Amino acid sequence: MSEAAIHFPRGFLWGSATASHQVEGRNTNNNWYAWENTPGKIIEGQKSGIACDWWGGRWKEDFDRAQQTAQNAHRFSIEWSRVQPKPDVWDDEALDVYVSMARDLVHRGMTPLVTLHHFTDPLWLTEKGGWESGETPVLFAAFVRKVVGVLKEYVKLWVTINEPNVYVLSGWVEGAFPPGKNDLTAAMHVYANLVRGHAAAYHIIHELQPEAQVGTAINYRSVQPARKWMPLDGLLANFQRQVFNNAFAVAITTGKLDLYFRKIKIPEAAGTQDFVGVNYYSRDLVSFDLEAADIRLGTRTFPAGAAVSPTGFIANVPAGMYEALKWAHGFNLPILVTENGVEDNLDTLRPRYLVEHLHQVWRAANFNWSIKGYFHWSLVDNFEWERGWTQRFGLWGLNTETQERIRRPSVDLYAAICKENGISSQMVRQYAPDALDTVFPPV
Ligand code: FCB
Repeated sequence: MSEAAIHFPRGFLWGSATASHQVEGRNTNNNWYAWENTPGKIIEGQKSGIACDWWGGRWKEDFDRAQQTAQNAHRFSIEWSRVQPKPDVWDDEALDVYVSMARDLVHRGMTPLVTLHHFTDPLWLTEKGGWESGETPVLFAAFVRKVVGVLKEYVKLWVTINEPNVYVLSGWVEGAFPPGKNDLTAAMHVYANLVRGHAAAYHIIHELQPEAQVGTAINYRSVQPARKWMPLDGLLANFQRQVFNNAFAVAITTGKLDLYFRKIKIPEAAGTQDFVGVNYYSRDLVSFDLEAADIRLGTRTFPAGAAVSPTGFIANVPAGMYEALKWAHGFNLPILVTENGVEDNLDTLRPRYLVEHLHQVWRAANFNWSIKGYFHWSLVDNFEWERGWTQRFGLWGLNTETQERIRRPSVDLYAAICKENGISSQMVRQYAPDALDTVFPPV
């Protein structure tokens, strides 16, 4: 049988992504701790607890795993509530832990990508109004100055704010994240303040480290009208694309935040990204529906025929990855896939999902779009926000009772890909035979 292979650009970053609250454990000073301790907020009342015990030191063994399986990069985040436990207190020991993590990655020959805000806020900040308050971008900037000042020796790649679009939607529209509101006016303030916070962070990072590469990680949802003949579905899809996918990334390009019904000028945000970070998971078909729980969200379904993950969270639509990269390419900047993955405890869909999504990344890279790397979500199962431990996104599984890591077949598939800087038909045949015809179509 003849063998075929596809290859990625030289120097491609192959990593996985994590976030502080989801892996560290024992985070008791942020808004998610409070949320987890509010009845009814997390599925089955689950808690992050000690999570993957990274704060107990297990980050090191997980970095061993990443390194031993040929990953050459890792994305992790800094927990603001640890570094600044009170408005006037900086915790140097906590900062030292993050320095150790970054240094350790560098010593392993792995490139660190550091996220400065990944959904969680210190409790003291929440008490001051959190991101609804105009003071928060300034407070965030002070935190960024502190962190970048010590980490810049090891870190050059920064994500300021993870998924500002999800943060606003989940916290102020759907109410699944703290503060659990449904308040459009407040949502717009938060969106604008996140843009201001990003812009302030961008300028500070470049002041401290001129060679830094700074971006965000936008959750790009491939939203399409469910009924092509129905103009209202088209309108709704356009509205969602604008507010969810475009608004933030365009605001930090032009200095204008366009929320469809309201436009806000934030001039200091113009030109404040050096790369576009894309988190892509799935596609939604939306229909306008007067009876939908929220008319602005409409009724959402997955494309017919797409394989769906065990908890019904993600449909395997690799074409959406290509669409996301095309969108990112429109900004004329380098691109990083900062997250992509699927929750799949038994690892039945993940190998195929992984290979088919990477195939689309490869297609995009072949147009010479400047795609610099891919970070799989996630290295090890971790605490999935309001969905708790019911969703298992890790290459490695986690037994939360014993902290034992379970090596899923995807570990070896991803290792083979990272090592080869490419995908061969032999790998696909071995690990994801159901993807063979898509990635290497028969001639
Ligand atoms: C993204 C988040 C990340 C993780 C994945 C599954 O929206 O950035 O923390 O929860 O989804």
